[in-house]
Amino acid sequence: MDFKRLVTKITTQAYTPDVSELVGLLTTDQREALLRSAGEVCSHYMNNQVHLRAIIEFSNFCACQCTYCGLYSGNKSLTRFRMPLSEVNDCISEAVAVGYRTIIFQSGEDFGLPADYISNCIQYVKAQGDIAVVLSIGDRPASELAAWYAQGADRYLIKHETSDPLLYERLHDGAQLKNRLDTARTLKGIGYQLGGGFMVGLPGQSIETIANDLLLLKELGVEMAGIGPFIPHPCTPLCHATPGTEDLTLRTLAVARLLLPKVHLPATTALATINPNALKEALCSGANVIMRKVEPENYRRMYEIYPRPFARYLTPREQRAEDEALIRSLGFQPDPGRGDGYQKEEE
Ligand code: 5AD
Repeated sequence: MDFKRLVTKITTQAYTPDVSELVGLLTTDQREALLRSAGEVCSHYMNNQVHLRAIIEFSNFCACQCTYCGLYSGNKSLTRFRMPLSEVNDCISEAVAVGYRTIIFQSGEDFGLPADYISNCIQYVKAQGDIAVVLSIGDRPASELAAWYAQGADRYLIKHETSDPLLYERLHDGAQLKNRLDTARTLKGIGYQLGGGFMVGLPGQSIETIANDLLLLKELGVEMAGIGPFIPHPCTPLCHATPGTEDLTLRTLAVARLLLPKVHLPATTALATINPNALKEALCSGANVIMRKVEPENYRRMYEIYPRPFARYLTPREQRAEDEALIRSLGFQPDPGRGDGYQKEEE
């Protein structure tokens, strides 16, 4: 089938493509046309608007054994922290003051984290106005997830990381993909807007795996998906693995936009880490979200999932101004709204 017809077919939401069709797109020799088509679909569904979201990485304690992640529990060289709530509250106030309407609370799987800590975060945000709360804190008991939703949390991010069950087990010290997917479905059942995602370029991943990753996002009914390149971290078992490439990440992002036209797709920090210019490319090839850390610099340094150059530290206000200017320079507008998922918007 020719390229244009395949793009049109895949963008039809009622149609579920097969793996070979997605592989065909991911590996097309018409790379520029693929990225451009994804950019056009994105502009159409997102009205040329880009969402800015604030992330507060409040704890780097982690009980997990993910062999790719700098926060994994085996990394004994990392100083662990959990921010005092008073500092989290200051971050929230600052993020809201500079214009963010979505605040993401992110941490490792921190078993020492009391449920009340998160309740405080939710309440503090909600007291400031109509601002969306997103949790990205790993697997927690269903009772806690339900309580936080009842307290006002809006969205939850839980990535499947890879759709290959054997690779998943190998990368996660025997943990099962099925359990991860069960949690994702539980979250959706509770009512959360669900965020998923995976890494591109994991050792042992094939193009077919990526096609299945994309199909899994569709099957789960995610409203957001974070897709970024794998970057080896020197203090992890995968320190010598080959990193994911910018090219394959951009292609994957573009196919994600075609397959999931209304889903929020960030231009991930990991992609910008392998090439600062890739942020712009991503925004023109299907991405419609930028997420920025707003916690103080000393904490950011300790939240090292993958190694990255320590760029000049920008305050949330400076970062926001720079991002708004970048968005406008590309011919888009910063979206002033909360940036909810399409299922909520359509309610
Ligand atoms: N390279 C890129 N992304 C990573 N993540 C974890 N480790 C790495 C890495 N080495 C991503 C995973 C995870 C999130 C915490 O960050 O997708 O969900």
